Amino acid sequence: MLTYTPDQIRDSRLKPGNTGLVLPVRAAFVILVRNSELHQLRATIRQLEDQFNARHRYPYVFLNDKPFTEEFKRAMEWVTSGDCHFGLVPYEHWSMPPWIDRVRAKWAMTMMGSRVPYGDSESYRKMCRYESGFFFRHPLLDGFDYYWRVEPGVEFTCSIPYDPFKFMVDNNKSYGFAISLREIPVTVKSLWKTTNAFRAAYPDYTAPNNMLRWVTAPDGDYNMCHFWSNFEIASLAFLRSPQYTAYFDFLDRAGGFFLERWGDAPIHSLAVAMFLNKSQVHYFDIGYYHSPFQNCPTDPHFNAQHCFCNSNHSMIYNEDSCTNDWLAL
Ligand SMILES: *[C@@H]1O[C@H](CO)[C@@H](O)[C@H](O)[C@H]1NC(C)=O
Ligand SMILES: *[C@@H]1O[C@H](CO)[C@@H](O)[C@H](O)[C@H]1NC(C)=O
Ligand SMILES: *[C@@H]1O[C@H](CO)[C@@H](O)[C@H](O)[C@H]1NC(C)=O
Repeated sequence: MLTYTPDQIRDSRLKPGNTGLVLPVRAAFVILVRNSELHQLRATIRQLEDQFNARHRYPYVFLNDKPFTEEFKRAMEWVTSGDCHFGLVPYEHWSMPPWIDRVRAKWAMTMMGSRVPYGDSESYRKMCRYESGFFFRHPLLDGFDYYWRVEPGVEFTCSIPYDPFKFMVDNNKSYGFAISLREIPVTVKSLWKTTNAFRAAYPDYTAPNNMLRWVTAPDGDYNMCHFWSNFEIASLAFLRSPQYTAYFDFLDRAGGFFLERWGDAPIHSLAVAMFLNKSQVHYFDIGYYHSPFQNCPTDPHFNAQHCFCNSNHSMIYNEDSCTNDWLAL
């Protein structure tokens, strides 16, 4: 087992005004971020607070592979209403594991080069591996049951007049998304084959009433559909489950995080498709923008009252979206 140093887990800044605050759900925002992204994140959190959290005061967990600066921590304390916890990602969770052939991995990155976004980036691959397999194991998340993933630079373009965490609990939901789209095939060349090998090795893990048809093309191959995981509201129990962790370990051994460029989005999505049924998944029709895509509520009345996005630009109208197929399941 990995041991964490006190600095990695104990740097919490609790707000005196939140003493005794009892939240309806043990939930937190989880944000993987660099010190240099302070300004983008400030803008994002300002919107998140205005649109939702100022009325609720859910806490924040900030994670970084480098120690946060005092400047960063102070800026986050100012802009948030909830308590702030600052954690360091351990090296073992942010590196190429020892069983990866480094020469092959370097070669794969060079070959992918600039043909696809982050094709030659090693740190992007480490990030995808971390978001796939490790963030939910950070001790700062131990006390929480649900998380909402936030990234620097995203925008929340509508007020959220209810509590999505409570919605998840009250409706027995395990996974919530806002945008779905299709993956770039060259980044996941062997992911489907590896996933099928996993299913053959662990036949009991596939749920009886699963959503695999949402991700299966007519010819039986992967159709590239996935939930865009930069926005997620989900149950930590789902990621901590024996099914999910066995799936991650299987994929990690296969090496595709580095030998290809497997994203955490298709991995979370294939896990959702295998292990959950449709009633455990929820489409959050909220105002959410992550360049270059957005979800913008199309109900004219709701949009007029709550939003500043143009619903004509919502991803739901984009032919690369898989959300209508998901709704039709
Ligand atoms: C959620 O699950 C509980 C326990 O299985 C059940 O009693 C309840 O009716 C479910 N609620 C909804 C909205 O499905
Ligand atoms: C979905 O899964 C949950 C949890 O395993 C179960 O309670 C529910 O009955 C399932 N619903 C359907 C439609 O299969
Ligand atoms: C959306 O598109 C329709 C049809 O082109 C147009 O009539 C409408 O004004 C547009 N709405 C907005 C908010 O731009």
